[in-house]
Amino acid sequence: MCLRLRGRRTLNDRSNSDRESSDRESSDRDLPSVDLCRTQAAWLRGARSRLLRRAALQGRRTIVEIGAGWGLVANELCQRTGRSVLAVDRRSPPRGVELDERVQWIVGQAERLPFADRSVDLIFAQLTFLWLDASRAMREAARVLAPGGVLVAIEPDYGGLMEYPPDVATQHLWLSALRRAGADPCIGRKLPGMCAAAGLRVETRFLDRYEPAQNSRLDLLAELELLANEAKELARVRHNLETHSDIAVAHLPLWMVIGEQPTTAKGV
Ligand SMILES: C[S@@+](CC[C@H](N)C(=O)[O-])C[C@H]1O[C@@H](n2cnc3c(N)ncnc32)[C@H](O)[C@@H]1O
Repeated sequence: MCLRLRGRRTLNDRSNSDRESSDRESSDRDLPSVDLCRTQAAWLRGARSRLLRRAALQGRRTIVEIGAGWGLVANELCQRTGRSVLAVDRRSPPRGVELDERVQWIVGQAERLPFADRSVDLIFAQLTFLWLDASRAMREAARVLAPGGVLVAIEPDYGGLMEYPPDVATQHLWLSALRRAGADPCIGRKLPGMCAAAGLRVETRFLDRYEPAQNSRLDLLAELELLANEAKELARVRHNLETHSDIAVAHLPLWMVIGEQPTTAKGV
């Protein structure tokens, strides 16, 4: 298993004093704590259901999740379909979460899936493409999808994060912390083009749900490595949010993409 960090800036670029201490390895950054993943998965449940219904989940036989993390969504997919789910992640199976017995865990890279050409009916990814070599993973998805098969992805775009009032703004913190951790924080807007370039027919949707800005939305940011000045700024924002939570707004665009393999795929 390859535990490489695709960081664009190495930790050595900064002095120790500039760094927030952390007991987690940099290569852990792409998997938030289980509690956070549970909260995110629960928050996205409705949108995920609608998207998967649109993608005709129930009629799909070979179902793959890439970047399965703690296996929470893989469990859900098994329960929804009554079928087994192939959960691909660069990590070993999670400890601390009981996997449904129908989850088949595969340690592997989304950029090199261990499946034959045109053998998969549905690939699901949630908050994963930002951590991948996304173009390669997209081409790989297109290779393994059967004619009529679909890729379903839910991915954020922090470049479009809308926040109000200005003293609760955190966009610059997200962008720098995610980039430092090796993620592409603006992956959402790039996915439709990548999907089309890989030969898939693309449909996009957006989350239609809005909630007032809450301190809890910053818990994920706090789990990323922050510079000392960024950590101070985050603490200030948390304080500001407490003082005027009534008017504070934060909306993160989540791109929901369905990419369908044409039934008469060119070049196959
Ligand atoms: C943010 S977590 C998302 C977990 C899950 N999809 C969810 O929504 O709870 C990203 C996951 O992608 C995995 N990952 C990162 N790079 C990967 C790669 N190249 N191939 C497969 N999995 C990868 C990480 O190990 C991590 O479990």
